[in-house]
Amino acid sequence: MKSISIFILASAFFLSCNSSTKGPGMSASHQKIDSLLSLMTIEEKVGQLNMYNGTWEFTGPVPKDDNSQRKAEMIKKGLVGGMLNVLTAEGTREAQKLAVENSRLGIPLVFGYDVIHGYKTMFPIPLAQAASWDQQMATEASRIAAKEMSATGLNWAFGPVMDVAPDGRWGRIMEGAGEDPYLTSVFAKAWIKGLQGEDLSDPETVAACAKHFAGYGFAEAGLDYFTVNISDQMLYNAALPPFKAAIDAGVASVMNAFQDLNGIPATAHKKLQREILKGQWGFEGVVLSDWASINELTTHGFASDRREAAIKAFEAGSDMDMESRIYEEELPALIENGTVDESLLDDAVRRILKMKYDLGLFDDPYRYSNAENEEKYLLAKEHLQLARDAGRSSIVLLKNTDEILPISKSVKKIAVIGQLAESKDVVLGSWRAQANPNSGVSIYEGVVNALPETDVQFKQGYTLTEGERSFRYDLNFVEGDFSKHDDAVALASSSDVVILVMGEDCFQTGEGRSQSDIGLKGNQEELFNRVIEANPNTVVVLMNGRPLAIPNIAKKAPAILETWFLGSEMGHAVADVLFGDYNPSGKLPVSFPHSTGQEPFYYYQKNSGRRVPNDFDSDMVFWVHYTDTNKEAVFPFGHGLSYSDFEYGDPEITAIGGGIEIDITLTNTGEITGKETVQVYIRDLVASETQPIKRLVDFAQVRLDPGQSESLKFSLDREDLGFYLSSGQFVLEDGEFEVFIGGSSEDTKSRKVSVNF
Ligand code: NOJ
Repeated sequence: MKSISIFILASAFFLSCNSSTKGPGMSASHQKIDSLLSLMTIEEKVGQLNMYNGTWEFTGPVPKDDNSQRKAEMIKKGLVGGMLNVLTAEGTREAQKLAVENSRLGIPLVFGYDVIHGYKTMFPIPLAQAASWDQQMATEASRIAAKEMSATGLNWAFGPVMDVAPDGRWGRIMEGAGEDPYLTSVFAKAWIKGLQGEDLSDPETVAACAKHFAGYGFAEAGLDYFTVNISDQMLYNAALPPFKAAIDAGVASVMNAFQDLNGIPATAHKKLQREILKGQWGFEGVVLSDWASINELTTHGFASDRREAAIKAFEAGSDMDMESRIYEEELPALIENGTVDESLLDDAVRRILKMKYDLGLFDDPYRYSNAENEEKYLLAKEHLQLARDAGRSSIVLLKNTDEILPISKSVKKIAVIGQLAESKDVVLGSWRAQANPNSGVSIYEGVVNALPETDVQFKQGYTLTEGERSFRYDLNFVEGDFSKHDDAVALASSSDVVILVMGEDCFQTGEGRSQSDIGLKGNQEELFNRVIEANPNTVVVLMNGRPLAIPNIAKKAPAILETWFLGSEMGHAVADVLFGDYNPSGKLPVSFPHSTGQEPFYYYQKNSGRRVPNDFDSDMVFWVHYTDTNKEAVFPFGHGLSYSDFEYGDPEITAIGGGIEIDITLTNTGEITGKETVQVYIRDLVASETQPIKRLVDFAQVRLDPGQSESLKFSLDREDLGFYLSSGQFVLEDGEFEVFIGGSSEDTKSRKVSVNF
């Protein structure tokens, strides 16, 4: 009976207080949390820092002794704060019951899950969403994801991914917004707004988690989990700003990272977590470890045993232990014998209780487990419609010689070629949460549905993979099987138009999916060469989750559409663009190199002393270049064409009171209405630390009818024009800036202007 009465006591605090507190930064709940804290034993406090994987699904290496009975017992004792990978309204309700109705204080569990581009209805992968440059769309997609997941009892999304990713070899590049810190920061806000909404206690919103703090996307050689050695200049100017943007947007939590950053594992990085995140930035939310990353401090060679790992991670500011089970084992004794200060424990527990409070769990611990809504919301018709809209706006038209696209709907015979074209599964992308396998619309289906009266025929052509495909295991790539080429070439030559779908399996990207080569696998390139010869009227449709090195295809194909992995409605979205029902407007969030050897490859490189052969003989070797390939991009960051044509007027650029104002007129000189993304880049020409040749600082999207012009004004302020020194200090330095404005990072008009701050 004791347990029940204390539960009632604890719950009563919460039931009596207003739970409409908006985010982690507000303090209405502090007193209530302190009162609860005063009732808790050290074990119970440490229990709140403990996160277990459910037994439904595994998204990391599971310990051999994984035992659901033991987990249930621990929950009942109040020694678990949250779980991940618990599925369905019924499943979360059952688990919640164990905590609320059995543990001494009845503190509810929080339920986390990896939801980064949808829960059941799949939206474009995050990299594709970033290609839309459309924040409203990204917010909408996340809002729907939150609505679907929350109906099943999940209230903590392990996203958005804020990892700036300059290396296409890194498989997790698909999870974030690409190579650029500014674009990633903009999407940080958009995704967080969609997930968290205005009020965390709304049962259709969830807590977001900005991950992986920090520097994870700079893995050496693009190898996932591998060490990160980056300059402090890169850390402060590229890796950290998106996280700062996430904090400013009120993100409820942050997940740290597996890798070591310049010698210190991120999970035990005191400077990152305590000094910068919780100190300078004033973050009051929860810092969650990544899966077993506290335990991995020993394999990093940073802690001699689990006890030392506990001390180092905890003192560095990692509040919650996901699946290392080290805090539960080590922290109580460390607190009791005074090795670790109890005030640190109280601080960590407060953060977790505060998040639960903000989520409204103390008002009603079952508010998210709603079987009725689960039935109603998952794969709802309007969610699929939004997925189609999001898909269309994420497509990038890379090339369109002689306006071969859009394809006329009166064409008689269409060949759809490529193993990827037929897949209803690959379209869903990696990190697909609870998408039903094979539930997406394939590109072939999309084409057939768009033109039901037309003769549309399919041939597999190349063989990229064979056997079972799984999120958890390596794919079986097929090399050297040319047996299906002849049929495909014959179909190509007898058709009016060929839609050749090439690229990657979706499980070539995602966690643990690094590649040493970002060209096309299987025998796709050979097939392409034959098909393009058989029928020059060939449109290449690319499906991929990273930039690709495809110089031969870029040169020979008359038209190329970058379609990424667009989710449940992919085939329809692609057909909308192929046949002109949607005018493409996406722009690349990553640079496409000529060769994998250029990676890491990103547009905001430094100039170096010898970038171009200026006043010396350019045949000499003494300048920055490769002797065997081009050092520039095949398709640069920000590139993307339209079925409309846009003309940029001459920009007026003026320095005004420590800022810069830009006026430019944009005209649609084409024949149809279209949307253009106008991009603004700057270069600080001379600075106390060398600066990139260009960096994105602003952009705007404009929809124009044929012949219509619009005057645009951009104002760059101190935040845009300053930069971080390697010391971490943000500075504004007087002097000359070059301002670039245009439709891609390489297609710009520029002016120089002097600014005094
Ligand atoms: C490991 C991944 O790095 C992280 O992003 C994910 O949230 C966790 N596993 C949980 O699945």
